[in-house]
Amino acid sequence: MYEIETERLWMRQFKYADIDDIYAIYSQYEVMKYAGGIRTREQVESYLENILKSWQNNQFGMWAIAWKNEAKIIGRGGLCFLDNTPEVEVGYVLDKPYWNLGLAAEVAKASLISGFEVLNLERIVAIANPKNFASRRVMEKVGMTYEKDAFYYNSDVVYYSISKSDCSSDGSLFVLHE
Ligand SMILES: CC(C)(COP(=O)(O)OP(=O)(O)OC[C@H]1O[C@@H](n2cnc3c(N)ncnc32)[C@H](O)[C@@H]1OP(=O)(O)O)[C@@H](O)C(=O)NCCC(=O)NCCS
Repeated sequence: MYEIETERLWMRQFKYADIDDIYAIYSQYEVMKYAGGIRTREQVESYLENILKSWQNNQFGMWAIAWKNEAKIIGRGGLCFLDNTPEVEVGYVLDKPYWNLGLAAEVAKASLISGFEVLNLERIVAIANPKNFASRRVMEKVGMTYEKDAFYYNSDVVYYSISKSDCSSDGSLFVLHE
């Protein structure tokens, strides 16, 4: 289990007390329309349990995203297995007031660098609904390239990837091991 401090953000482990903040995000249609749809509180609870299991079983997972020095969660992001495959994907969801500030790119970049440098992955992928132009732009900003149209999570998606050799660290990331 490890955590990351970026320029503006704290990517920390989820705790049960985050449920209200994350449910407030996952119950908004506009936020979730390209991210699997809105969730009930029960679904969010089980999602948080799965995140914790992923960390225990795989040594990676999603982080809660918070502003530095603030407790409130503004989203989630990090690494997980792509659907039912052995490939590792980077993903991000932020609450709407925090869009278009470059925060998802900050989360994605930190996730990629940690995936390559801490976990020693060779390749990381990302998928999005083809109409999710903001998400596609984030992938491009962090150096990922479009590879193909594909079908995951019961949806048509665009599939991007990046290999370790194409990911450069800008040196501003702090990885904190627990
Ligand atoms: C996708 C998401 C995480 C992006 O977060 P963000 O913090 O706003 O991302 P960034 O600010 O780093 O970058 C967004 C980029 O997309 C661009 N963008 C935003 N909306 C766009 C649109 N409709 N069409 C084209 N580009 C768009 C922004 O201009 C920005 O690019 P720029 O920096 O070159 O100007 C955020 O919109 C979100 O949480 N959406 C809902 C959940 C979701 O869809 N998650 C991804 C599932 S695959």
